[in-house]
Amino acid sequence: MTGDGQHVLDFLLSRRSRPPKFLTGPAPDRTAIETMLTAAARVPDHGKLEPWRFIVLGEEASRAFAQAIHARAEAAGKDGAKGALPFEQAPLTIAVVACPRPTDRIPAIEQTLSAGAACLSLLNAALAGGWGAAWMTGWPAYDRPLLDAELGLAPEEWIAGFVHVGTVAAVPPDRPRPDLARIVDWRA
Ligand SMILES: Cc1cc2nc3c(=O)[nH]c(=O)nc-3n(C[C@H](O)[C@H](O)[C@H](O)COP(=O)(O)O)c2cc1C
Repeated sequence: MTGDGQHVLDFLLSRRSRPPKFLTGPAPDRTAIETMLTAAARVPDHGKLEPWRFIVLGEEASRAFAQAIHARAEAAGKDGAKGALPFEQAPLTIAVVACPRPTDRIPAIEQTLSAGAACLSLLNAALAGGWGAAWMTGWPAYDRPLLDAELGLAPEEWIAGFVHVGTVAAVPPDRPRPDLARIVDWRA
């Protein structure tokens, strides 16, 4: 290959998530988190709109959010244990908030794609830093009353993902990866 990015390529070809049940403390410190966030904010962004922001939930804030999920689940008839578990297992969660900007210049879908890119870049930066991490949603990511009250989302904002981060306690088996022959259409 040309260039000096072989180690980056090696990372991309072997990277995989570590779901919260495989995570423990300690969490990354503020400097390490800022590095991850800097990478997350360095993504393609048509029109330089910055259609995303981040909410960092440290251990205490994560546990408080988990409590709020339990309370909301009871009121809304949802599965509280399932919704709260990732926030109880991971010592750090970063909410990636999509913030659609009102403009005719850039289609909303492109802003959504940029928010997804921010999630993946954040996830990869955490993994590359030697942490375990996973990008998840679950019903709490779509529950407006919960999000509005606990995370202070503006009406047009929504959760692109919760990226749970921590120290790797155990390594999960990898999942089967896509067969390129089924998804690639080569045209000379
Ligand atoms: C937007 C989005 C939401 C997801 N939400 C969940 C979830 O709520 N629960 C879950 O078990 N996996 C969820 N996943 C899948 C996890 O990220 C899963 O660990 C991932 O597919 C592993 O892929 P990787 O090893 O290539 O990183 C979600 C994935 C995406 C892209």
